[in-house]
Amino acid sequence: MSVLFKDVLALDGFMNSARPCDILVSDGKIEQICEPGTFSGLTDETLEGRGRLAVLPGFVNGHTHAAMSLLRGLGEEKPLMEWLREQIWPVEAKLTPEHIYWGTRLALLEMASKGVTCFGDMYFEMDQVARAATEMGMRAGLCRGLIGDDRSKLEENAALFSEWNGRDGLISIQLGPHAPYTVSPDMLKAITAMAKEIGAGVHFHFLEAEWEKQYLSDEFGMSPYEYLEETGLASAPFLILAHCVWFPLSEMTPFKDRNITLCHNVKSNLKLGSGIFPLDEAYRLGINISLGSDGAASNNQLDIWDEMKTAALLHKGVNKDPTLARASDILRMATYGGANSLGFHQTGRILEQWEADLAIVDLDQPHYVGVDPDNLCCFIVYAGSSADVKSTMVKGKWIYRDNRFCLADRDEIIRQSLRCRKELVDQSL
Ligand code: NI
Repeated sequence: MSVLFKDVLALDGFMNSARPCDILVSDGKIEQICEPGTFSGLTDETLEGRGRLAVLPGFVNGHTHAAMSLLRGLGEEKPLMEWLREQIWPVEAKLTPEHIYWGTRLALLEMASKGVTCFGDMYFEMDQVARAATEMGMRAGLCRGLIGDDRSKLEENAALFSEWNGRDGLISIQLGPHAPYTVSPDMLKAITAMAKEIGAGVHFHFLEAEWEKQYLSDEFGMSPYEYLEETGLASAPFLILAHCVWFPLSEMTPFKDRNITLCHNVKSNLKLGSGIFPLDEAYRLGINISLGSDGAASNNQLDIWDEMKTAALLHKGVNKDPTLARASDILRMATYGGANSLGFHQTGRILEQWEADLAIVDLDQPHYVGVDPDNLCCFIVYAGSSADVKSTMVKGKWIYRDNRFCLADRDEIIRQSLRCRKELVDQSL
């Protein structure tokens, strides 16, 4: 299939200003970018932009638990451990593979409609998540959340890797130890050894809450950096550390030369009162940074546009410096940074021969009056919202087109999700 985007504004997180152009997408890739109105070949489909459509890389939700869309609203406004122990874990214990399938599909409806083309997910029954992602045509980096020292769960995660890694060019599989307080260092050593053996990345919650730093010191006698080195995490083929709110700045320097991503979950951290990740310091060191929503029970949106705006505003405000967390840097984190973190290396920029994972934004709206190539990025981050996404494409295929889902029955997914929610909440409350 080939699609021509005619006379559009192309923008990614590496550009100083947007580029007016024609873009040809063919065989899943961005085949050609040329001056507006100059492409003359035949295509299956042409979109007339008339300078009022923006073509952005698809957004990447770097850290989430998609099926938690069924748990949205449970245990609101509680501290992290109380929220997990009293509200979330008892309900999660009742989740069946079917619940996880429909909960994931529900989350993917939400994400696809907001321009998200790829997500990093840690949960369980991950074959159901992989199935839901491939049916929806979405790209995903998936890991089985590992809690406790049960080696059979690690084998399950490795089997997921064998079965799904690389499927349809859409799926990458990581190993998913949950957090320092739920997995022992010995288990982490086994996980990182397995990661090296099979060539998988590792996805881990780290230092989300302030007490975790003291916990590392009291329980294991280690600083955060020593802990990552000692357990082997820091030398995994690649590592995604979700949250990292309390990682000491003095220990961040060695990260810059490692294949390590810090996933900034700004709204989840704010809502759970966890604190504020030192974004500016991490960014200055050149560490790869992605943006994530975390699960819908702690955010409560799966909306990377909203993460962008919150991050851009928050870090300016708390640092009293409007030059920090610049719109183009934030857009880069929300696209390229996330794709790169999950092992997708030709995704997240508008460049020829890169994957055609795209979000199409309608600029023909009141709040875009005054937009031009130089200020488009700031309009997107500060004036725009995910409601401006008109269409979403992954690997050159439409998953959402003119506000309709192309590979999903919206009404059926909502109907099934309502049934699942009722089963879960009626059983547990
Ligand atoms: Ni999480």
